[in-house]
Amino acid sequence: MSGHSTYQPKTGFERWLDARLPIIRLGHDSFVDYPTPRNLNYWWTFGGILSLCLGVQIITGIVLAMHYTPSAAGAFNSVEHIMRDVNYGWLLRYMHANGASMFFIAVYIHMLRGVYYGSYKAPREVLWILGCVIYLIMMATAFMGYVLPWGQMSFWGATVITNLFSAIPVVGPAITTWLWGGFAVDNSTLNRFFSLHYLLPFMIAGVVILHVWALHVVGQNNPTGIDPKSKSDTLPFTPYATVKDGFAMSLFLILFAVFIFYMPDSLGHPDNYTPANPMVTPPHIVPEWYFLPFYAILRAVPDKLMGVLAMFGAIACIFALPWLDTSKVKSMRYRPQARIYFFFFLVACVILGFCGAKLPDAQVIPGLTTVFVIDYDLNTFVWLSRLSTLYYFAYFLVVMPVLGLTEKPLPTPETISSPVLGVETKD
Ligand code: HEM
Repeated sequence: MSGHSTYQPKTGFERWLDARLPIIRLGHDSFVDYPTPRNLNYWWTFGGILSLCLGVQIITGIVLAMHYTPSAAGAFNSVEHIMRDVNYGWLLRYMHANGASMFFIAVYIHMLRGVYYGSYKAPREVLWILGCVIYLIMMATAFMGYVLPWGQMSFWGATVITNLFSAIPVVGPAITTWLWGGFAVDNSTLNRFFSLHYLLPFMIAGVVILHVWALHVVGQNNPTGIDPKSKSDTLPFTPYATVKDGFAMSLFLILFAVFIFYMPDSLGHPDNYTPANPMVTPPHIVPEWYFLPFYAILRAVPDKLMGVLAMFGAIACIFALPWLDTSKVKSMRYRPQARIYFFFFLVACVILGFCGAKLPDAQVIPGLTTVFVIDYDLNTFVWLSRLSTLYYFAYFLVVMPVLGLTEKPLPTPETISSPVLGVETKD
């Protein structure tokens, strides 16, 4: 995509290194001279913002781990020690905890941008699948990280989610015991979660490198969904995209700072400031906001195994998207009908998130096996979740394949530069 390299080593050292390890050339070709579609809007800045989020999480996480104790007896107190005694420990912890939420805000925007502009379509399927793999690892990392403070919500959240595996026929209970490293969520569970929570972000970093590599092989999509045809359709990455990304990152950091300094606990649950107690089930076990739509799908189905399958199915649909969408036109800018269905998809996701946070009418009776007891009679939120779950699946499995064949898209421009520059330029 980027064509031949334009890098010219300037100093003797650069020439020497270039002949042995052309790493400066790689950086130059990928982030300086790389041809970027000239019409990219601000939705294209979220890849850079996500890289920033990953960096912040890794750096703050490493320092937090220096003061954290991964044991059932010491974890809760070590987090309090970080908050009260460690120099700027409160800042590190609030950056890390709110950083996870910021990461998910950015990733959902990044993914929805991909859906709106058809960035998953050929030839970007592998790029999309790698993104989905990152998303899966992100969810696992966030889930395990939330267990580490060993508060009530950590413990009971871990209990509910690990128990889901027990719904798998025959081998389920054995898998759950294996995951726990015992017969309940306990010290060994916390230890392995800490180990994996430390490891997974580095795996994310590895997959991000593959993601960006795949991106640079096929080139970026853009709001028109039309590939660059001539040199006038692109601009060099630096300074154009670099400066734009930097500006967007600064705005994003302001929002991040508002959370850290003015409302650091607004996205968390107060129950997690109570130490874990296996003898007392909280009245309402609820995951972090970014898992709520999936949690609502899980609870919308009145059978544990089917609920688990629906939840994993919802994620599988995202993976399969490049093969579910039959439309030849990438960008929804030229697909007015697709835009309407997309809008209702967003609404369904928000409703699911909202319902996921609600306590169903019935009482959850304390005790491990009764965590899933929900009264399904005439429960508004359960029915709202069911309708939205239906729409969620219909969007992927019916709308995406059928609409692409039946719709009448608007005419697309000849080139990227024609709508931007107003004239067709050839070179
Ligand atoms: C740590 C998480 C991630 C990082 C650091 C990351 C990074 C990037 C970067 C730097 C770009 C180029 C700039 C841009 O288009 O915004 C990009 C593009 C892209 N990413 Fe990601 N990404 C992440 C997660 C994901 C996920 C979860 C998905 C989808 C499931 C995804 C799908 C895509 C697609 C389809 C493109 C191409 C966009 C286009 O050219 O139109 N990414 N990503």
